[in-house]
Amino acid sequence: MQAVFGFMASRALTVAAMLNVADALQNGPCYYVDLASTVGADQRSLHRLLRLLVSLGIFEETAPGTYGLNAAADLLRTDHPQSLRDMAVMITSPSHWLAWGEFDAAVRSGESGSRHAYGTDLFSWFQQEENSEEWELFNAAMTSFSAGTAAAVAKAFDFTPFGKIVDIGGGHGMLLRQLLQAAPQATGVLFDLPGVIEGAAQEDLGDRVELVGGDFFEAVPAGGDAYVLKHIIHDWSDDQCVAILRNIADGMAPDGRVLVAEIVMPDTTEPHAAKFMDVNMLAMTEGGCERTEAEYMVLFESAGLRLVAIHATESVASIIEGVRA
Ligand SMILES: C[S@@+](CC[C@H](N)C(=O)[O-])C[C@H]1O[C@@H](n2cnc3c(N)ncnc32)[C@H](O)[C@@H]1O
Repeated sequence: MQAVFGFMASRALTVAAMLNVADALQNGPCYYVDLASTVGADQRSLHRLLRLLVSLGIFEETAPGTYGLNAAADLLRTDHPQSLRDMAVMITSPSHWLAWGEFDAAVRSGESGSRHAYGTDLFSWFQQEENSEEWELFNAAMTSFSAGTAAAVAKAFDFTPFGKIVDIGGGHGMLLRQLLQAAPQATGVLFDLPGVIEGAAQEDLGDRVELVGGDFFEAVPAGGDAYVLKHIIHDWSDDQCVAILRNIADGMAPDGRVLVAEIVMPDTTEPHAAKFMDVNMLAMTEGGCERTEAEYMVLFESAGLRLVAIHATESVASIIEGVRA
């Protein structure tokens, strides 16, 4: 029954995040009547929403009708360093809700739910003016999600041996900033689409970072010692991934490293975030998926690379390390 009702849990969490209930409880537990007036909700309806979430382990009921934060609910605070608030809002917002409504069509056809819902791919839909709020929300969710993984990646691998670190599809440089902090002697290259790099130029990334705009299907900056790709590979089909990785293999220093940061799909039947993330990629993207270690091995081999290790991090993502074959 939990699985049958699963979408209600997700939607309830979104609504609690939209109402910023966790922020309203920052200074301690609150009776639902007062809480409702703080967050702008109907009293009895808020009580019913929170009763469900408490039963799922999110928020706690400290006295009848009085709700407070627990560790899970704390992650819904907007100012939590690993905040999942924007992610919780986004996951059932129109961009995802409408595409997931077409999930049956996605499974039948192998095309994305987005394409069935919008007649185009998700990112083209985001670029339409009337969807700009959804685009902003998506970016905010990705930034907060990425913040947690970026710190974990910088911590889980020794970047100090590298002279030049290239972040492929590095966005506005959040990860590269942390990698250069961890490797004070290294220089960095931030590579992304020209429009994104224009945005990155507004950030103060320090004088060790070179900004390069381009298309990773065409070419990537040459001569790097480490090429980092965080949440890039899972966006693309096998052929597209091989094209990106081959461009890197062709251009990197002879003893360079490719470091792919992704959630690795376990081979076992255990519950794992990768399995949710993977079907979300099916619903939302054109050919994106999460891959097993064996699948990464094949991708690397096809691109002239050899997978040498997989490093766990404190986050759900691992670092998949490759060298030239
Ligand atoms: C899912 S985001 C990941 C961003 C960042 N690495 C992170 O982990 O937060 C994918 C990134 O790939 C970039 N990108 C997409 N297509 C690209 C292309 N053809 N060439 C270069 N960058 C591209 C996007 O602009 C975006 O910044």
